[in-house]
This record gives sequence, structure tokens and C-alpha cells, in this order.
Amino acid sequence: MTEHWKTLSASGEHRVVVTKSLPGQLWLEVLQDADCRVEVCHSRTVLTGKEIRDAIGDRCAGVIGQLTEPWDAELFSRLAEAGGKVYSNYAVGYDNVDVDAATRQGIAVGNTPGVLTETTAELAVALTFAAARRVVEADRFMRKEQYRGWLPDLFLGELLWNKTVGVIGTGRIGSAYARMMVEGHHMNLLYYDPSPNPSLEAAVREFDRYLRSGGEQGIFCRRVEALEELLREADVISLHPALNEQTRHLMGARELTMMKENAVLVNVSRGPVIDEAALVQHCATHPEFRVGLDVYEQEPDMASGLSELENVVLAPHIGSATRWTRQGMAVLAARNIVGVLLKYPAWDGDDMRPFLSPESPSAAPSLVNRRTLNWPVTGQ
Ligand code: GLV
Ligand code: GLV
Repeated sequence: MTEHWKTLSASGEHRVVVTKSLPGQLWLEVLQDADCRVEVCHSRTVLTGKEIRDAIGDRCAGVIGQLTEPWDAELFSRLAEAGGKVYSNYAVGYDNVDVDAATRQGIAVGNTPGVLTETTAELAVALTFAAARRVVEADRFMRKEQYRGWLPDLFLGELLWNKTVGVIGTGRIGSAYARMMVEGHHMNLLYYDPSPNPSLEAAVREFDRYLRSGGEQGIFCRRVEALEELLREADVISLHPALNEQTRHLMGARELTMMKENAVLVNVSRGPVIDEAALVQHCATHPEFRVGLDVYEQEPDMASGLSELENVVLAPHIGSATRWTRQGMAVLAARNIVGVLLKYPAWDGDDMRPFLSPESPSAAPSLVNRRTLNWPVTGQ
């Protein structure tokens, strides 16, 4: 393994381990300006728990790690023994992190919200239309030189304009996706979320008024109490919840059967939200049902049979993969590390943009356990 590691600013006081090389330069400058010795792993394979423990060694102030790594109690106790104060997950989702175990060790946990909202919502939109209009199937057809000329019934798909979109989980990404589908494609919105989302509802009402004032057909928005209502009525369903015990296998055989036979299902959240074996079964027996997936239950593996289905579009977990977003995530991850090491307060706002400029606020942008750690906070 050691041949994959590079040390930058070897004279720095705080040893910071970065388990994958990250895009951009500013993140590194942020760490170097705070007197960090930065050790980066350039391997493209996922590090095991043991490799990470070895990398932490006996002196390590903080780690920037990946969503593919198991940040469990064992890793956090190693990090604490090495004098570690902070772990920064290079992702907004942190279901790979045992936050309680970190908190017990007094280790702050950071994530990277805000900069990947629109990027990830755009991929969900891309998968929605790729599935509804069979873009990838049609591409395969062209490459096999099967196109013999225009036909009235070649690759018929589904029109989404003025139909109904169902969004499960309306955090930042789910809300951004909902607005893209409502405002771009004049879709009615049903949403399922433990909490009402007044600002999303207000945005849809405002757009409905605008449409009606121009003589166009209006649209509606409704929060459903029962998931079943959304499953039965929506033409497109997009999944945006955090993964936890309530959302694991939220979509199983029973739920899939409740959906329209020609519905589109999209998942850019976390794979285990869908029972993937049940999905394979459903798609095999419902050829008009279409799916766009960016995440899998056992990444990087796929459930047996999934890759043979023509009605499924597959992407390799690239929801946040734009240059701007991945550079922004790196800057936020580095600022979480520096914020904790320099004992800055934690930011208590949603807007992450101030942290992307070199003149950042003196705060840690996003510490998910700031409250349980009683970390001081600062507003915008
Ligand atoms: C990516 O999946 C993320 O959570 O940022
Ligand atoms: C992610 O930013 C979310 O809250 O959905």
C-alpha cells in the first residue's frame, strides 16, 4: 500500500490523512495554511478497515475519508488513540459512519452538504428521462447497427409533461429535483416526508399561479400521509431519503407492485432503500416499468440479473460528479478538519457558499454531531 501514499508539506504540525486524492487545489491550501502535514492515498481501490488503521498509525489529528469506507467504532477508537479530533466524510450522506461511536470518543464528524444539491438533482432528472425515453436502450440499438429507418412505433416511451411526480424525502436534493420536474415539466407533485415542507409547497403554489395567470393548465402539490397513495398515483417516483432503519428496503416487492405498470423509478440516494432482488424480479415481469439507478445495495456489485434488464438505466454512483461540486466538497471537507483543529465554532446555517472562497468564515462548515458534542455554533 505504502507506494500509493504521498506526503505534502511534511513539516506541518497536524498530521491529516486523506484516503483518496481529491479534485482541485484550494482544499490542500486550506489544510496547508493551517499547518497540516497532509498524507494522501492515490490508490483507486477502496481501502479496507485495516489499511485505514495502518494509515492512521499512532499520530493523526484528522482524516478525510470516503463513503465507501466503514467508519465504525474500531476505526474511531484507533483515531482517538492517535490523538484524532475530527473525521470528515467526503459526502453529504454519512450512513457509513457510526456517529455515536465518534461522539463517544469526542471526535467531530463533518460532511459536505449544499454544494452537491443541484448536481445530484440534475443526475436524477437525467436518469428520469433516460428511463422514460429509453435513451440508453436506443443507444445500444444504434451501436449494434440495428437501425433500418424511422418507424412509427420505434422505442415508444412515456411523456412526463403535466403528469405526476412523487418525491420520497424532500431534503435539499429531493426539493431541488421536485422543483426541476415541476417547473421544467409542469408536473404535479406528491411528496412523502416525515416533516411538511412549507417552502417547497409555496414554490409550487407560486408556479401554479404563474401558469394559470398565463392561461395554462395549473398544477398541484400534496404531502401524502400514506406512502401507498404516492405509489399508486405517481408516474415518476424519485427516492431522496437518508438511509436509516426506517428507509432500508422502503421499496420492496409490495411497494413496487402498487406502482403503475408503466411508471419510472429513480434512485440517486442509497442503494439499500430499494430491495434490489425484488426490483430485478419486478422489472423482469413488467417490461413497461422503467428504472434509473445511480446506487446499489452492495456497491460496487449489482443484484444478479440487474445488468441484463433492458428497462433499467445504470450509473456508477456519480450523483455528485461534476467538477465544481467535487472541488467544493473537497474544500468543505478540508474546512471541517481545520475548523475543528483550530477550535472554530460550527456553522449553523444551510448556505455553504461562503466557505468556497478563500476568505471563508472562521467556522467548521458542517459538523453533524455538533449538538451532541456541545460544540459552540455560529450563525450566518
Ligand atoms: C454521495 O453519495 C454523497 O452522499 O455525497
Ligand atoms: C442533501 O443535501 C439533502 O439534504 O438532501
